[in-house]
Amino acid sequence: MKIHHLGFLLFVAACQADKGQSSPEVRPDTYHIGQTPTAGQVAALDIDANPTGAGLPAGQGTAQAGAATYVAKCAMCHGAKGEGIEKNPKLIGTQPAAGFAFATDVKAPKTIGNYWPYATTLYDYIRRTMPMTAPGSLTPDEIYGLVAFLLSENGIIPATAMIDAKSLPAVKMPAQAHFVKDNRTGGATFR
Ligand code: HEC
Repeated sequence: MKIHHLGFLLFVAACQADKGQSSPEVRPDTYHIGQTPTAGQVAALDIDANPTGAGLPAGQGTAQAGAATYVAKCAMCHGAKGEGIEKNPKLIGTQPAAGFAFATDVKAPKTIGNYWPYATTLYDYIRRTMPMTAPGSLTPDEIYGLVAFLLSENGIIPATAMIDAKSLPAVKMPAQAHFVKDNRTGGATFR
């Protein structure tokens, strides 16, 4: 009888503990941790750019301007000719020279020229991650210049082309046709 009674008490206690964790009405108004970010802090993190060009900032650059930035801030890791040094990837030069061999050769190196489907990804990627030692330190003009330089050295745009928020999404990457649009809408179509 005593044991039975204790079991009942534990059951009630467990229900209350569960209620405390999952029921919204007993949540505290504040957990007293963190702080509301300022609009400036949110803007500093809201830096994604997509293939439509949405998210690309004002600014512009040419391969000539980008070459100077590349020498100063990128060549020490990626090589003077973009050949890649040790584990730092190759940025210039298409390998394999022709075709899209990735289905049959899993070791084929994926490069900007042979694999990246969208040019805007270059802006987005460099903006958020490079130079690896100081991500976020480049100005929009510096990044547009670097993007122009890398696209031009990969033979994708002319050396004189000016790259900005309007011209970059219009650049057609060599590998783009090898990708299909993900048109799944959810539910049973996902496997
Ligand atoms: C301290 C060394 C270092 C410096 C400096 C550096 N990078 Fe990188 N970069 C890397 C490494 C390492 C990776 C590979 C990161 C990974 O795969 O996660 C990389 C990746 C990249 C990629 C993606 C390559 C690919 O095909 O996946 C690009 C583009 C790039 N860097 C551009 C730049 C540019 C432009 C600069 C100069 C502003 C720069 N990097 C400076 C080390 C560096």
